[in-house]
Parts: sequence; structure tokens; C-alpha cells
Amino acid sequence: MNKRSFLKSVALTGIGTQFGMDALAGIFHSKKGVSAAELAADNDFWEAIRKDYLLKPDYINLENGYYNFLPQPILEKYLQHIRDVNYQGSYYMRTVQWDNKKRMADKLAAIAGCEPGELVITRNSTESLDLVIGGMDWQKEDEAVFAEQDYGSMQDMFKQVSDRYGVKLVKVSVPNHPASDEEIVSLYEKAITAKTKLLMVCHIINITGHILPIRKICDMAHAKGVEVMVDGAHAFAHFRYKISDLHCDYYGTSLHKWMSVPLGAGFLYVNKNKISKPWPVFADWTTDKNNIARLNHTGTHPCATDLAIEDSIDYFNMIGAERKEKRMQYLQQYWTSRVKDIPRVVINTPLLEGRSCGIANVGITGIKPADLAKRLMDEHKVFTVAIDYANVQGCRICPNVYTTTEELDRFVEAIKKLAS
Ligand SMILES: Cc1ncc(COP(=O)(O)O)c(C=O)c1O
Repeated sequence: MNKRSFLKSVALTGIGTQFGMDALAGIFHSKKGVSAAELAADNDFWEAIRKDYLLKPDYINLENGYYNFLPQPILEKYLQHIRDVNYQGSYYMRTVQWDNKKRMADKLAAIAGCEPGELVITRNSTESLDLVIGGMDWQKEDEAVFAEQDYGSMQDMFKQVSDRYGVKLVKVSVPNHPASDEEIVSLYEKAITAKTKLLMVCHIINITGHILPIRKICDMAHAKGVEVMVDGAHAFAHFRYKISDLHCDYYGTSLHKWMSVPLGAGFLYVNKNKISKPWPVFADWTTDKNNIARLNHTGTHPCATDLAIEDSIDYFNMIGAERKEKRMQYLQQYWTSRVKDIPRVVINTPLLEGRSCGIANVGITGIKPADLAKRLMDEHKVFTVAIDYANVQGCRICPNVYTTTEELDRFVEAIKKLAS
């Protein structure tokens, strides 16, 4: 592309009008006296962030959950990392590649609230969690507990260890509107037997946005000698917590979701006392069984993605964890409060503060989820994802910090029309 056509395409796409990270940081700094809850409703303020996103005009994107695509400043940094690594070639790979990856992991550990030696960068939640499921020292008739609302890939991995080693799989079903934390804890507790070896639980159930009482579940399971692995795919950089406060043994997440890292990044946390337990999926030269690196042999991989983790962390820190959480909560409450009492509308998410944050799920009695998603898109230009399994029939709604209340108003009008 020559210079003239590049400038033309910049003008067309709107990249030229974006706020740089420095300008944005100034705007954030100017609001430092304003509480996160107050700022959450300040649409003018979030408009500055919105300008960083190159948004397709074709539809309102309420499906930011699968991939939390990058704001332009992170994308530009990522492209530069690709160029730099390509320029340096094998020299980069043979010199600083691993030091850089370790630096990123240590920064993530600081945000995640664990020790640096307890976290490694993976490609995604699937790799992190399946590594633990597949790497346990399973014996015939051992048991594993998880929920039918859990993510399919992890359920498939459990099915494989069941077929391979004769492990019994025990599934619970998490209610969408529990009366208390204790109801959830007791659900898992009842599924545990003397043979249970591992319990998997979602920090936030991806199909509903339901946040589970992880620490209470871990404490209950540990009292019975059972290890807990937490699926935090949608939790990290969405709402605030510290892994050390959760008391879990293993925790996996994806960074291309709420942390807005380029595609293909996640992390695995393993409590330092458990690092020696799982077998690695790909064997590593590390012989020290207490070094988490033994679980993290990846072979050659797109390491420019590792480098962008630092940029995404900078962007996340600029917004601030509390401000992001409150904004996500505000957006969810904005639309759910306007549709929840409409006849035929079913909210499949507990709306009490602490039980959900930015994600929620809505269905309409008499309309199949796939049809609802299609009609939202075809008739109202609102992009969502249909969920139709376990006790969840509806569309998952995932706004992002850049979503406007005008967009949510259009979504609310669409739901009113479809329900009428
Ligand atoms: C709860 C949950 N677990 C695991 C995953 C898998 O994430 P990834 O595809 O990034 O590995 C997802 C993806 O959406 C998810 O929602």
C-alpha cells in the first residue's frame, strides 16, 4: 500500500481520529477524584474509550465474550511487535524470548494476586484447564465433579479421561437463581464421595454470567480432601479478585477475553504446593518438579502475542480494575432493569450484586434461542449468541466498556418488540 492509499484508508476506517494512549491517560487522570460507581454512568467519559475501538457499523456488538477484540492502541503495538520479532528473527528467539515471556507472566501474577512462580502463560483457558484434567494421576474408579453448565471443551476432556482411565464423572446442575451461597456449596458437596479427586467449577458461568462462591466451594472441598480447579475464562480483568483469596489449587483463564490481549493467550495458575502433581502435556527439560515451567513447554509459538500482554496490561491499568468492573456492572444493570419485568422475558442470570457483573442472559418464552439471536440480528442489527443447553435458553449479552446506553436502548426496544 503506498502512502496516499494508506492515508485514504486511515481516513475511511477512522483510525486517524483515535485517542492515543497518552491522551486517554490524561482524561483518566483528570477524573481521579470521581468514584468508580459515578464514572460508570458518565457516557461522555466512556466515549473517549469508544473512540479507541474500530467498530463495524453493521450491527451493535453485544458479543464481546468470545473475543474481546483490541482497541487500536493495543493493535498498533501488537503489529509493531510482529514487525520487531520478524526483523530480529532467530536472534530474538535465541536471546530474549523467554526472559520477555517470564516478565509478562510476573506482571500477570501481580494483577492476578499470586506468586510469580505460580503462573505461566498458555495459549488459552482450554490449554490451561485441559492440561490439569489430562495431567492428573487418574486411577480407575476415581471421581471428578463438575457442572453441566461448564464449558464443553473441559467436559470433553473429562470424558476422555473417563474413557481412558475409567474415571467416574459426576455432574451437578447449577440453578440460575440460587437462594444463597450455601445452596451452591451444598450442591457440590453432595456430589463429593470418598473417591472424588478433582472438582472443576466456573468462576463465572459463561452462558449466564453467574459468579459462583469459589472460596466457599474450595474450603468445603479441601475439608474433604478434594482439589479444586477453577475455570476463570470470563473472570480475569472483568471483575476484581485475587487468586490467593479464592483458595483454589488450579486456575485457568484466557487473556484474549476481558484483558484484550491479541488472540491466543491465557494463563495457568497452580498453587505452589501442587506444582509437582500434574503430568505436563508436553514434557519439558526442567527436572525440578516444583518449577511451574515443567508444565509450560509450548515449542515455538507466536511470541509477538506474549509481548502485547504488557500493552494490554497498561491499557487495563489505565482504565483501572474498579472502574472497569463498575462500568461492566452498570451496563448490565442498565438493560436488565429495563427488560426483566416485561411479560415473557426470562432473565437467566442472578442479578444481585456480587452474583453477576457485565454478562447476563435473556430469553423470551416461546422463542427458541437460535431464533431469538437471528431475529435480533436480522430485524434489529444486534449481534448476540444463542445458548440452548442445560437450564439456559436465551441469548448471552456481553457488552464492553465502550458500549453506549443508546445501543442498549435499541437492544431493550428490540426485546420489547419481540416479546410483545
Ligand atoms: C467458561 C469457559 N471456559 C473455557 C473457555 C475456553 O476459552 P478458550 O477458547 O479461550 O480456550 C471458554 C470460552 O469461551 C469459556 O467461556
